[in-house]
Amino acid sequence: MKTKYYKIDVENMNMSQMKEAGELIAAGELVAFPTETVYGLGGDALHPEAAKKIYEAKGRPSDNPLIIHIADVSDLERVAKEVPPEAYKLADAFWPGPLTMVVWKKDEVPYATTGGLNTVAVRMPKHSIALELIRQSGTLIAAPSANTSGRPSPTEASHVLEDLDGRIAMVLDGGAVGIGIESTIIDLTEATPMVLRPGYITPQMLSDVLEKEVIIDPGIIAADDTTKPKAPGMKYKHYAPKADMIIVDGEECAVIEKINTLTEEAHKNGKKVAVIATEKTKTAYAADVVLSIGARDDEDSIAKHMYKILRECDELDVELIYSESYKTPRIGQAIMNRLLKAAAHQVINL
Ligand code: TXA
Ligand code: MG
Repeated sequence: MKTKYYKIDVENMNMSQMKEAGELIAAGELVAFPTETVYGLGGDALHPEAAKKIYEAKGRPSDNPLIIHIADVSDLERVAKEVPPEAYKLADAFWPGPLTMVVWKKDEVPYATTGGLNTVAVRMPKHSIALELIRQSGTLIAAPSANTSGRPSPTEASHVLEDLDGRIAMVLDGGAVGIGIESTIIDLTEATPMVLRPGYITPQMLSDVLEKEVIIDPGIIAADDTTKPKAPGMKYKHYAPKADMIIVDGEECAVIEKINTLTEEAHKNGKKVAVIATEKTKTAYAADVVLSIGARDDEDSIAKHMYKILRECDELDVELIYSESYKTPRIGQAIMNRLLKAAAHQVINL
Protein backbone atom coordinates (compact mmCIF):
# COMPACT_ATOMS: atom_id res chain seq x y z
CA MET A 1 0.00 0.00 0.00
CA LYS A 2 1.25 3.49 -0.81
CA THR A 3 1.00 5.70 2.29
CA LYS A 4 -0.25 9.20 1.47
CA TYR A 5 1.52 12.00 3.36
CA TYR A 6 0.04 15.44 4.00
CA LYS A 7 1.78 18.21 5.90
CA ILE A 8 -1.03 20.09 7.66
CA ASP A 9 -0.72 23.67 8.87
CA VAL A 10 -2.45 23.66 12.27
CA GLU A 11 -3.25 27.38 12.04
CA ASN A 12 -4.72 27.10 8.58
CA MET A 13 -5.82 23.53 7.84
CA ASN A 14 -6.30 22.43 4.25
CA MET A 15 -9.92 21.31 4.53
CA SER A 16 -10.00 19.23 1.36
CA GLN A 17 -7.07 17.20 2.72
CA MET A 18 -8.78 16.86 6.12
CA LYS A 19 -11.98 15.77 4.38
CA GLU A 20 -10.06 13.14 2.41
CA ALA A 21 -8.52 11.88 5.66
CA GLY A 22 -11.95 11.68 7.32
CA GLU A 23 -13.34 9.77 4.36
CA LEU A 24 -10.52 7.22 4.62
CA ILE A 25 -11.44 6.58 8.27
CA ALA A 26 -15.13 6.28 7.34
CA ALA A 27 -14.15 3.75 4.65
CA GLY A 28 -12.40 1.58 7.25
CA GLU A 29 -8.82 2.67 6.40
CA LEU A 30 -6.10 3.82 8.83
CA VAL A 31 -4.85 7.40 9.19
CA ALA A 32 -2.04 8.47 11.54
CA PHE A 33 -2.52 11.90 13.12
CA PRO A 34 -0.95 14.16 15.74
CA THR A 35 -2.37 14.65 19.23
CA GLU A 36 -0.91 16.71 22.07
CA THR A 37 0.61 13.58 23.65
CA VAL A 38 1.97 11.34 20.86
CA TYR A 39 0.92 10.48 17.28
CA GLY A 40 -2.08 8.15 17.06
CA LEU A 41 -2.95 5.47 14.49
CA GLY A 42 -6.64 6.05 13.82
CA GLY A 43 -9.39 3.78 12.59
CA ASP A 44 -13.20 3.70 12.91
CA ALA A 45 -13.83 2.87 16.59
CA LEU A 46 -17.27 1.43 15.89
CA HIS A 47 -16.11 -0.92 13.16
CA PRO A 48 -14.48 -4.23 14.22
CA GLU A 49 -12.61 -4.59 10.91
CA ALA A 50 -10.82 -1.27 11.47
CA ALA A 51 -9.63 -2.40 14.90
CA LYS A 52 -8.28 -5.60 13.31
CA LYS A 53 -6.38 -3.51 10.76
CA ILE A 54 -4.85 -1.44 13.55
CA TYR A 55 -3.58 -4.52 15.39
CA GLU A 56 -2.19 -5.88 12.17
CA ALA A 57 -0.39 -2.68 11.14
CA LYS A 58 1.21 -2.28 14.58
CA GLY A 59 1.91 -5.98 15.11
CA ARG A 60 0.07 -5.56 18.39
CA PRO A 61 -1.57 -8.36 20.41
CA SER A 62 -5.35 -8.06 19.96
CA ASP A 63 -6.07 -8.43 23.69
CA ASN A 64 -4.60 -4.96 24.19
CA PRO A 65 -7.56 -2.53 24.02
CA LEU A 66 -7.64 0.75 22.08
CA ILE A 67 -8.53 4.24 23.29
CA ILE A 68 -11.58 5.83 21.61
CA HIS A 69 -10.98 9.46 20.67
CA ILE A 70 -13.97 11.81 20.70
CA ALA A 71 -14.41 15.42 19.59
CA ASP A 72 -17.13 16.47 22.01
CA VAL A 73 -17.81 15.63 25.67
CA SER A 74 -21.34 14.51 24.70
CA ASP A 75 -19.80 11.72 22.58
CA LEU A 76 -18.98 10.02 25.89
CA GLU A 77 -22.64 9.02 26.03
CA ARG A 78 -22.31 7.28 22.66
CA VAL A 79 -19.81 4.77 24.05
CA ALA A 80 -20.39 4.64 27.82
CA LYS A 81 -23.17 2.45 29.23
CA GLU A 82 -23.68 5.10 31.86
CA VAL A 83 -21.51 8.13 32.48
CA PRO A 84 -20.40 8.35 36.13
CA PRO A 85 -20.61 11.85 37.67
CA GLU A 86 -16.82 11.79 38.16
CA ALA A 87 -16.39 11.59 34.39
CA TYR A 88 -18.21 14.87 33.86
CA LYS A 89 -16.16 16.55 36.58
CA LEU A 90 -12.91 15.33 35.05
CA ALA A 91 -14.01 16.21 31.51
CA ASP A 92 -14.84 19.69 32.71
CA ALA A 93 -11.40 20.12 34.21
CA PHE A 94 -9.16 18.28 31.72
CA TRP A 95 -10.87 17.81 28.32
CA PRO A 96 -9.80 18.39 25.70
CA GLY A 97 -6.50 17.16 27.12
CA PRO A 98 -4.14 14.30 28.03
CA LEU A 99 -6.57 12.29 30.15
CA THR A 100 -8.18 8.94 29.23
CA MET A 101 -11.13 7.63 31.27
CA VAL A 102 -12.15 3.99 31.52
CA VAL A 103 -15.92 3.44 31.88
CA TRP A 104 -18.39 0.56 31.25
CA LYS A 105 -18.98 0.19 27.51
CA LYS A 106 -22.19 0.30 25.50
CA ASP A 107 -23.14 -2.66 23.29
CA GLU A 108 -22.44 -0.58 20.17
CA VAL A 109 -18.73 -0.53 20.98
CA PRO A 110 -17.22 -3.65 19.38
CA TYR A 111 -15.17 -6.05 21.48
CA ALA A 112 -12.52 -5.82 18.77
CA THR A 113 -11.91 -2.23 19.92
CA THR A 114 -11.89 -3.02 23.66
CA GLY A 115 -9.78 -6.16 23.36
CA GLY A 116 -12.71 -8.23 24.61
CA LEU A 117 -13.30 -6.12 27.74
CA ASN A 118 -16.68 -4.79 28.92
CA THR A 119 -15.06 -1.44 29.64
CA VAL A 120 -13.92 1.22 27.20
CA ALA A 121 -11.18 3.86 27.36
CA VAL A 122 -12.18 7.32 26.08
CA ARG A 123 -10.26 10.54 25.51
CA MET A 124 -10.88 13.94 23.92
CA PRO A 125 -7.50 15.10 22.58
CA LYS A 126 -6.36 18.72 22.65
CA HIS A 127 -5.15 19.08 19.10
CA SER A 128 -7.07 20.79 16.30
CA ILE A 129 -5.96 18.28 13.63
CA ALA A 130 -7.11 15.35 15.78
CA LEU A 131 -10.45 17.00 16.58
CA GLU A 132 -11.06 17.97 12.94
CA LEU A 133 -10.23 14.44 11.75
CA ILE A 134 -12.78 12.97 14.18
CA ARG A 135 -15.45 15.44 12.98
CA GLN A 136 -14.68 14.83 9.31
CA SER A 137 -14.86 11.05 9.77
CA GLY A 138 -18.43 11.24 11.05
CA THR A 139 -17.55 8.50 13.54
CA LEU A 140 -15.31 8.07 16.60
CA ILE A 141 -11.67 7.16 16.23
CA ALA A 142 -9.89 4.27 17.95
CA ALA A 143 -6.21 5.11 18.14
CA PRO A 144 -3.22 3.52 19.80
CA SER A 145 0.14 5.25 19.56
CA ALA A 146 1.29 5.10 15.90
CA ASN A 147 4.43 2.99 16.44
CA THR A 148 5.22 -0.62 15.70
CA SER A 149 4.41 -2.57 18.87
CA GLY A 150 7.43 -2.49 21.22
CA ARG A 151 9.07 0.61 19.71
CA PRO A 152 9.07 4.04 21.37
CA SER A 153 5.87 6.06 20.76
CA PRO A 154 6.13 8.55 17.87
CA THR A 155 6.37 12.24 18.69
CA GLU A 156 6.98 13.35 15.09
CA ALA A 157 5.43 12.27 11.76
CA SER A 158 8.84 10.98 10.60
CA HIS A 159 8.75 8.42 13.46
CA VAL A 160 5.37 7.18 12.19
CA LEU A 161 6.79 6.75 8.67
CA GLU A 162 9.83 4.91 10.06
CA ASP A 163 7.50 2.30 11.55
CA LEU A 164 4.39 2.24 9.37
CA ASP A 165 5.20 3.52 5.87
CA GLY A 166 3.46 1.29 3.34
CA ARG A 167 1.24 -0.30 6.01
CA ILE A 168 -1.39 2.46 6.45
CA ALA A 169 -3.42 4.70 4.11
CA MET A 170 -2.31 8.15 5.29
CA VAL A 171 -0.13 10.19 7.64
CA LEU A 172 -1.12 13.71 8.68
CA ASP A 173 1.99 15.64 9.72
CA GLY A 174 1.22 18.36 12.26
CA GLY A 175 4.81 18.81 13.44
CA ALA A 176 6.32 17.71 16.76
CA VAL A 177 3.84 17.03 19.58
CA GLY A 178 3.67 19.21 22.68
CA ILE A 179 3.77 16.74 25.58
CA GLY A 180 5.63 13.66 24.35
CA ILE A 181 4.28 10.99 26.72
CA GLU A 182 0.93 9.18 26.45
CA SER A 183 -2.19 10.32 28.31
CA THR A 184 -2.88 9.55 31.95
CA ILE A 185 -5.43 6.71 32.19
CA ILE A 186 -7.94 6.74 35.06
CA ASP A 187 -10.30 3.83 35.72
CA LEU A 188 -13.75 5.00 36.89
CA THR A 189 -15.37 1.56 37.05
CA GLU A 190 -14.42 0.80 40.64
CA ALA A 191 -15.38 2.40 43.95
CA THR A 192 -12.11 4.31 44.17
CA PRO A 193 -10.78 5.89 40.96
CA MET A 194 -7.48 4.31 39.98
CA VAL A 195 -4.68 5.56 37.75
CA LEU A 196 -3.76 2.76 35.34
CA ARG A 197 -1.05 4.71 33.49
CA PRO A 198 0.73 7.80 34.83
CA GLY A 199 0.94 10.82 32.53
CA TYR A 200 0.95 14.59 32.36
CA ILE A 201 -2.19 14.83 34.55
CA THR A 202 -1.03 13.69 37.99
CA PRO A 203 -2.97 11.68 40.63
CA GLN A 204 -2.93 14.81 42.79
CA MET A 205 -4.58 16.91 40.06
CA LEU A 206 -7.26 14.23 39.63
CA SER A 207 -7.88 13.91 43.33
CA ASP A 208 -8.14 17.71 43.71
CA VAL A 209 -10.91 17.86 41.11
CA LEU A 210 -12.78 14.79 42.37
CA GLU A 211 -12.35 15.85 45.99
CA LYS A 212 -11.61 12.26 46.90
CA GLU A 213 -8.83 9.75 47.06
CA VAL A 214 -7.34 8.51 43.78
CA ILE A 215 -5.18 5.41 43.97
CA ILE A 216 -2.42 4.21 41.65
CA ASP A 217 -2.60 0.70 40.20
CA PRO A 218 -0.09 -1.30 42.30
CA GLY A 219 0.72 -3.27 39.14
CA ILE A 220 2.46 -0.30 37.53
CA ILE A 221 4.65 0.44 40.53
CA ALA A 222 5.84 -3.14 41.01
CA ALA A 223 9.29 -3.58 39.49
CA ASP A 224 8.66 -7.27 38.79
CA ASP A 225 5.88 -9.45 37.41
CA THR A 226 4.29 -10.33 40.75
CA THR A 227 1.40 -7.83 40.45
CA LYS A 228 -0.39 -7.62 37.11
CA PRO A 229 -1.31 -4.13 35.91
CA LYS A 230 -5.01 -3.62 35.08
CA ALA A 231 -4.39 -1.89 31.75
CA PRO A 232 -3.40 -4.80 29.51
CA GLY A 233 -0.92 -2.64 27.60
CA MET A 234 1.07 -1.84 30.72
CA LYS A 235 2.24 -5.43 31.09
CA TYR A 236 4.29 -5.37 27.91
CA LYS A 237 7.92 -4.34 27.81
CA HIS A 238 7.15 -1.22 25.81
CA TYR A 239 9.26 1.57 24.49
CA ALA A 240 12.33 -0.58 24.35
CA PRO A 241 15.40 0.56 22.44
CA LYS A 242 17.45 -2.19 20.78
CA ALA A 243 20.43 -1.61 23.07
CA ASP A 244 20.73 -2.81 26.64
CA MET A 245 19.82 0.13 28.86
CA ILE A 246 20.77 0.79 32.49
CA ILE A 247 19.60 3.69 34.67
CA VAL A 248 22.04 5.05 37.23
CA ASP A 249 20.36 6.80 40.15
CA GLY A 250 21.99 8.90 42.84
CA GLU A 251 23.68 12.17 43.56
CA GLU A 252 24.84 14.00 40.40
CA CYS A 253 28.63 13.78 40.84
CA ALA A 254 28.46 10.12 41.84
CA VAL A 255 26.26 9.29 38.84
CA ILE A 256 28.66 10.96 36.41
CA GLU A 257 31.63 9.12 37.91
CA LYS A 258 29.86 5.75 37.86
CA ILE A 259 28.65 6.12 34.26
CA ASN A 260 32.12 7.15 33.11
CA THR A 261 33.64 4.11 34.83
CA LEU A 262 31.05 1.81 33.27
CA THR A 263 31.64 3.40 29.87
CA GLU A 264 35.38 2.83 30.16
CA GLU A 265 34.78 -0.86 30.97
CA ALA A 266 32.37 -1.18 28.04
CA HIS A 267 34.94 0.40 25.72
CA LYS A 268 37.51 -2.19 26.80
CA ASN A 269 35.03 -4.80 25.59
CA GLY A 270 34.70 -2.93 22.30
CA LYS A 271 31.13 -1.78 22.92
CA LYS A 272 29.54 1.39 21.57
CA VAL A 273 27.95 3.39 24.39
CA ALA A 274 25.36 6.17 24.56
CA VAL A 275 24.64 8.27 27.63
CA ILE A 276 21.34 10.05 28.26
CA ALA A 277 22.19 13.22 30.17
CA THR A 278 20.84 16.74 30.69
CA GLU A 279 21.80 20.13 29.28
CA LYS A 280 23.89 20.67 32.41
CA THR A 281 25.70 17.33 32.56
CA LYS A 282 26.11 16.52 28.86
CA THR A 283 29.73 17.67 28.68
CA ALA A 284 30.76 15.56 31.69
CA TYR A 285 30.60 12.22 29.87
CA ALA A 286 33.14 10.42 27.72
CA ALA A 287 30.80 8.07 25.81
CA ASP A 288 30.55 7.55 22.04
CA VAL A 289 27.32 9.51 21.98
CA VAL A 290 25.91 11.82 24.63
CA LEU A 291 22.26 12.77 24.19
CA SER A 292 20.69 15.61 26.14
CA ILE A 293 17.12 14.85 27.16
CA GLY A 294 16.45 18.42 28.35
CA ALA A 295 16.89 20.55 31.45
CA ARG A 296 16.32 19.02 34.87
CA ASP A 297 14.40 22.07 36.06
CA ASP A 298 12.11 21.90 33.01
CA GLU A 299 10.46 18.49 33.34
CA ASP A 300 8.21 19.13 30.36
CA SER A 301 11.30 19.27 28.14
CA ILE A 302 12.40 15.86 29.46
CA ALA A 303 9.01 14.27 28.67
CA LYS A 304 8.99 15.87 25.25
CA HIS A 305 12.40 14.52 24.15
CA MET A 306 12.44 11.08 25.80
CA TYR A 307 11.01 8.93 22.99
CA LYS A 308 12.90 10.79 20.27
CA ILE A 309 16.14 10.08 22.11
CA LEU A 310 15.35 6.38 22.53
CA ARG A 311 14.73 6.22 18.76
CA GLU A 312 18.03 8.02 18.13
CA CYS A 313 19.85 5.35 20.15
CA ASP A 314 18.44 2.74 17.75
CA GLU A 315 19.60 4.70 14.72
CA LEU A 316 23.09 5.15 16.14
CA ASP A 317 23.39 1.38 16.64
CA VAL A 318 24.75 1.68 20.16
CA GLU A 319 24.99 -1.50 22.21
CA LEU A 320 24.72 -0.01 25.68
CA ILE A 321 22.81 2.97 27.03
CA TYR A 322 23.48 4.51 30.43
CA SER A 323 20.88 7.01 31.56
CA GLU A 324 20.59 9.40 34.45
CA SER A 325 17.39 9.08 36.48
CA TYR A 326 14.66 11.74 36.20
CA LYS A 327 12.48 11.57 39.29
CA THR A 328 11.33 15.14 38.79
CA PRO A 329 8.69 16.51 41.20
CA ARG A 330 5.52 16.73 39.07
CA ILE A 331 5.60 14.25 36.19
CA GLY A 332 8.67 12.29 37.27
CA GLN A 333 6.50 9.26 37.95
CA ALA A 334 5.21 9.30 34.36
CA ILE A 335 8.70 9.81 32.92
CA MET A 336 10.30 7.09 35.05
CA ASN A 337 7.48 4.64 34.28
CA ARG A 338 8.52 4.78 30.60
CA LEU A 339 12.25 4.98 31.19
CA LEU A 340 12.24 2.02 33.59
CA LYS A 341 10.40 -0.06 31.00
CA ALA A 342 12.89 0.94 28.33
CA ALA A 343 15.61 -0.24 30.71
CA ALA A 344 13.72 -3.43 31.61
CA HIS A 345 13.98 -2.16 35.22
CA GLN A 346 17.79 -2.36 35.31
CA VAL A 347 18.81 0.30 37.83
CA ILE A 348 22.06 0.93 39.67
CA ASN A 349 21.29 2.77 42.93
CA LEU A 350 24.30 4.65 44.28
O1 TXA B 1 -1.96 9.68 24.68
C1 TXA B 1 -2.52 8.63 24.36
O2 TXA B 1 -3.31 8.03 25.10
C2 TXA B 1 -2.21 8.08 22.95
C3 TXA B 1 -2.77 9.05 21.92
C4 TXA B 1 -2.67 8.52 20.52
O3 TXA B 1 -4.08 9.40 22.25
N1 TXA B 1 -2.73 6.76 22.79
C5 TXA B 1 -2.18 5.67 23.40
O4 TXA B 1 -2.79 4.46 23.05
O5 TXA B 1 -1.26 5.73 24.16
P1 TXA B 1 -2.09 3.06 23.31
O6 TXA B 1 -2.97 2.08 22.60
O7 TXA B 1 -0.68 3.07 22.92
O8 TXA B 1 -2.28 2.80 24.84
C6 TXA B 1 -3.55 2.52 25.35
C7 TXA B 1 -3.44 1.96 26.75
C8 TXA B 1 -2.97 0.53 26.76
O9 TXA B 1 -2.08 0.35 27.85
C9 TXA B 1 -4.27 -0.23 27.00
O10 TXA B 1 -4.06 -1.46 27.63
C10 TXA B 1 -5.05 0.73 27.87
O11 TXA B 1 -4.76 1.98 27.32
N2 TXA B 1 -6.51 0.53 27.78
C11 TXA B 1 -7.31 0.77 26.73
N3 TXA B 1 -8.58 0.42 27.00
C12 TXA B 1 -8.59 -0.02 28.28
C13 TXA B 1 -9.61 -0.53 29.16
N4 TXA B 1 -10.87 -0.65 28.76
N5 TXA B 1 -9.25 -0.90 30.40
C14 TXA B 1 -7.95 -0.78 30.81
N6 TXA B 1 -6.96 -0.31 30.03
C15 TXA B 1 -7.26 0.06 28.78
MG1 MG C 1 1.34 2.70 22.82
